[in-house]
Amino acid sequence: MAAEIVVVGSLNLDTTVRVARLPQPGESVLGQGHFSDTGGKGANQAVAAARLGGTVAMIGKVGADAAGARLLQSLREAGVSIDAVGKSAEAATGLALITVDERGENMIVVSPGANAALLPSDVRDAAGILEAATVTLLQLEIRTDTVAEAAALSGGTVILNPAPARALETRVLARVDVLIPNRTELAVLTGSPEPRTVEDAARLASTIEGPRAVIVTLGADGALLVEGGEAVHVPAVPVEPIDPTGAGDAFCAGVADALVRGSTREEAVRWAVRCGAAATLRWGAQAALPTREDVERLAAP
Ligand code: RIB
Repeated sequence: MAAEIVVVGSLNLDTTVRVARLPQPGESVLGQGHFSDTGGKGANQAVAAARLGGTVAMIGKVGADAAGARLLQSLREAGVSIDAVGKSAEAATGLALITVDERGENMIVVSPGANAALLPSDVRDAAGILEAATVTLLQLEIRTDTVAEAAALSGGTVILNPAPARALETRVLARVDVLIPNRTELAVLTGSPEPRTVEDAARLASTIEGPRAVIVTLGADGALLVEGGEAVHVPAVPVEPIDPTGAGDAFCAGVADALVRGSTREEAVRWAVRCGAAATLRWGAQAALPTREDVERLAAP
């Protein structure tokens, strides 16, 4: 069966250290324990979409090592097709170092490894699944030329989560239907200071040319849909976050899931806010991604 949702992106093995507070530059802090989990924005979005009940395929690259095998196993267990996930003979599997503090804030450093070896030609080799997809989900933990190729070959709705933040060429943005930045990414994309208020975020988002809709994730302030000169603010679902890692990925998967099921973009944002909130209630990245039932237990915003 052709996958409705195709994710082109990164796979990382995450190591997370729990800290009382995040360190300042030049400072060392003692952690309160650590663990490892399967992660990477691409793989997280693929697993999240599959746990919500979608048929999902992933295009990516891992190293020929134990971390890569663990990531492939996690995708397989979630039901994601991994036929188009290649193995680099030279590069090690991507790695992410994460710290999470007692307030549920995190910091992440990614060493891309094999993710940087995912080339436009790898995407062309998987053109068939991209052409058949209803939604393609993209992020920026892989090369920009690979992202551009995936967007160009996609037959359906293209969603780009521009994370980590990077300025993008107009030709890439022109093929994006739905752009999902957070506040920091919105600032980088528009060359402006980070928006402080929902109104500032709406004003900045409306200056981005190319995508049909921009959805800004605002953490505790929920999310904002900006489309055709109109802005709709969706409040957050009140939760006590434990670990925000992967919450943005669950949000993006929630948007893809809802669009595949025929929801409007506003309905998709309301569902995605619940998906993101549900992903903060457990430790880890993929370990914390919610099922459809987990999300349905949270009240609608
Ligand atoms: O979005 C969360 C992810 O960012 C982590 O799983 C980590 O691997 C980094 O890619």
